[in-house]
Amino acid sequence: MTKNPHMHKNDPHYKQAKKENYRARSAYKLLDINKKFNIFKRAFYILDLGSTPGGWLQVTRQISEENLSKYNDGYYHRDHFKILGCDVKAISSIEDVKIVRIDFTLPEFLDEIRNYFGRKVDLILSDASIKKSGIKFTDDINQVKLCYKILEIANEFLKTKGSIVIKIFQGSDYDEFFSTMKKQFKILKSYKPRSSRKDSNEIYLIGLNKLR
Ligand SMILES: C[S@@+](CC[C@H](N)C(=O)[O-])C[C@H]1O[C@@H](n2cnc3c(N)ncnc32)[C@H](O)[C@@H]1O
Repeated sequence: MTKNPHMHKNDPHYKQAKKENYRARSAYKLLDINKKFNIFKRAFYILDLGSTPGGWLQVTRQISEENLSKYNDGYYHRDHFKILGCDVKAISSIEDVKIVRIDFTLPEFLDEIRNYFGRKVDLILSDASIKKSGIKFTDDINQVKLCYKILEIANEFLKTKGSIVIKIFQGSDYDEFFSTMKKQFKILKSYKPRSSRKDSNEIYLIGLNKLR
C-alpha cells in the first residue's frame, strides 16, 4: 500500500486495507457508498477522477468484473467493461484499467474520455481533492470550484439515468453547489462514509438518475 502521511498505523481501515491488498484506505469509502446507494448497479463504463494511488480503481475493477455475470439478463448489459482513471500524479497499472496522467480539468482530457469510451458513461466517480493550503475558507472554495468542473464533465459524458459520486468539503459555497447539482439528478444525497475520518469536513454527494 502506498505510504500516506495521513494514514496512521493504528487506524483499523489502514490495517484492513493492507491485509486486503488495497492501495489506500479510501477503498472502504467507496465500498461504504456502494453498500448504501448501489451505485455500481448495471455500471459497465466508469470514469474515475483523481485516482492516485488507485484504491477506488481497484474496487471499481473488482465490482465491474462481478457485474459482467451478475447482470447478464434481459436488461441493460454489456459483455465487457471499460474503466478510465486519471490523476496528475502517477498511478501504477491495474489490469484492464486505462490510466492517464493528466489534469482532468484540461480540454485534452475530454478527448481522452471521448476516444476511450466512444459513448456516454454509466458512472462517474470523483474522490479528487485540491491541494490544501491549510486556510479552510480558501480550500473549501477551491474544492467547490473543482466540483463544478466535474459537473461540467458529467453534463457532457454521463448518460441520462447515470450516477455520480463527488467529494466536496462542507463549508463555503457547499449549499449553492448542492442546489445546482440537485437540478440535474432525480435523487441527490450527501453521505459521510463510516470510513471517512470524523475530523475531516469531507462529504460525498451522490447523484442518482441523471435527468438529461
Ligand atoms: C484522495 S486522492 C484520491 C484517492 C483515490 N480515490 C484512491 O482510492 O486511491 C485525491 C487525488 O485527486 C487528485 N487530483 C486533484 N485535482 C486533480 C485534477 N485537476 N486532475 C487530476 N487529478 C487531480 C490528486 O492528485 C490526488 O491524487
